[in-house]
Amino acid sequence: MAERTFVMVKPDGIQRRLAGEVLARFERAGLKIVALKFVQVSRRLAERHYAVHRGKPFYEGLIEYITSGPVLAMVLEGNHVISRVRTMVGATDPGQAQPGTIRGDYAQEIGRNIVHASDGPETARQEIDLWFSPDDMVDYEMSDRAWLFE
Ligand code: RTP
Ligand code: MG
Repeated sequence: MAERTFVMVKPDGIQRRLAGEVLARFERAGLKIVALKFVQVSRRLAERHYAVHRGKPFYEGLIEYITSGPVLAMVLEGNHVISRVRTMVGATDPGQAQPGTIRGDYAQEIGRNIVHASDGPETARQEIDLWFSPDDMVDYEMSDRAWLFE
């Protein structure tokens, strides 16, 4: 079933010049880019994005991290894309992430784990709405569609 998810290359991913590498993995998997933008995250947006973590010991560090430089935010579409992208991203702590996952291949610590991806249908909807306006969603057909979908 085709669905949409919100993904972000975090500031460490940008600074380490891994944005292209991360995006390429999603492209190669046959996922469709529906929206894409490069942004310096404000404290206000960061606090809204990570509202569920407010009050946790790592919260302040997390807000500092995510506002420390620009991020590449995107909406991706594909079959079961929410769980599929979470699998491709790997465990939250890169030390526990499998080789072959983004975090397992490129990161060392939980506080510098390169990429964010929505963890379920409800958060995907909320995060897409938080980061993008309906006008940002580009409606187009992929030319290889017939080769990816039966
Ligand atoms: P994300 O939201 O960034 O995709 O990561 P996630 O679902 O795998 O993990 P989540 O529990 O939502 O945590 C959000 C981000 O907070 C940082 N974190 N640090 N020091 C810690 O114990 C700790 N726990 C979480 C990580 O950067 C994590 O991605
Ligand atoms: Mg999360």
